[in-house]
Amino acid sequence: MNWMRPWALALCLSTLGWSAAPAADDPLAATPQDRQWLLPAVPPHPDDNAPTAARVELGKMLFFDARLSSERNLSCAGCHSPLYGWSDGLGTAKGFRSKVLGRASPTIVNSGYNTIQMWDGRRATLEHQAMGPMESMDEMAMNLDALFAWLAVNPGYKAAFAAAYPGEAIDKTTTSKAIAAFERTVVSSDSPFDRWLRGDRQAMTAQQVKGFRLFAGPAKGNCAGCHQAPNFTDNGFHNIGLTSYGQANPDVGRFAIKPVPSLKGAFKTPTLRDVALTAPYFHDGSAATLMDVVAHYNRGGEVRTNLSASVKPLSLSNDEMRDIVAFMEALTTPARPFTLPTLPAN
Ligand code: HEC
Ligand code: HEC
Repeated sequence: MNWMRPWALALCLSTLGWSAAPAADDPLAATPQDRQWLLPAVPPHPDDNAPTAARVELGKMLFFDARLSSERNLSCAGCHSPLYGWSDGLGTAKGFRSKVLGRASPTIVNSGYNTIQMWDGRRATLEHQAMGPMESMDEMAMNLDALFAWLAVNPGYKAAFAAAYPGEAIDKTTTSKAIAAFERTVVSSDSPFDRWLRGDRQAMTAQQVKGFRLFAGPAKGNCAGCHQAPNFTDNGFHNIGLTSYGQANPDVGRFAIKPVPSLKGAFKTPTLRDVALTAPYFHDGSAATLMDVVAHYNRGGEVRTNLSASVKPLSLSNDEMRDIVAFMEALTTPARPFTLPTLPAN
């Protein structure tokens, strides 16, 4: 049987409906090394906030409840909506009384896997982030004393808090814990790329596989230098040379939190899972499409002041740019039915 090459055997088995492990030299299959991109099944959580069903359900109600804002018309989901990939489809966010804010609403998809939150990293954890939008006069502009007084007398919320955090007060701690527990369930980890990593060779097209190799290759796109495995982020901050940084008094990003010169105009590397759902792109909403994003990197950025050393002209051909875009389109987990919470009556 020495004529029987491994590929011939695989072919026989697949005609019989068997799925054989891909041959090691199959250029379109994932390698063992590629498996570093597989996410842990669930995001990590703090010891004192294990995600019970009651906590997730309470957090989901809070996340979708506009009564957490002073004019009772803006919930977290108003800017992080499942209809827009858990973002808002806007260039930059619209806040209290439709005020246009300075930065884009990032998706909350896979934020549970990240070790630092916000474009400028000013929040460490999801628990630490959750009260911010309610307290911000630009966003939900809520009086927290009034909020907790209302939650404490609302029969539905009273019961939901008691089930989620028995014996604990209804306050900032339990409210932010519940919201964080819910956010950790908003996960994208079953995209064609993820299925391909797990061994389904057909899950990505040949173009998408090529796009991934260009994305990861240090001598080609070098995208993975910053959008690292497994969640497409290094949890770090970089100035990628956006036009907005060339304006007078630009948003200095991370520098305002940590005044190190290299961090001027540096923003957090965002995840790219589900990225096809969240146009427009960048913290200033300046790129309309994924092709515009790749073209920006291919030019080596626009404004070169304080530019990251990892952003330089790439000389990718148009076909190669299209391959990288096709790869990013393979990062979307197919839509699953999502049930909106039933909010407690007033
Ligand atoms: C007015 C729109 C708006 C509302 C309402 C809003 N957000 Fe945001 N959210 C944003 C913007 C804009 C940012 C980025 C701000 C920045 O980095 O300076 C953000 C950032 C975040 C992040 C960080 C994600 C990351 O990848 O860094 C999380 C988590 C988050 N919001 C959750 C919430 C929760 C929970 C609520 C409700 C309590 C909420 N948001 C309400 C617009 C909004
Ligand atoms: C030097 C690090 C670095 C490199 C290299 C890099 N990125 Fe980025 N990427 C970032 C940072 C930081 C942001 C957010 C910048 C901002 O908005 O100011 C970003 C944003 C993006 C976004 C927008 C995501 C969103 O939700 O708005 C996409 C898409 C993207 N990058 C794809 C790529 C691709 C494709 C490549 C390779 C051609 C690449 N990146 C190379 C750091 C990098």
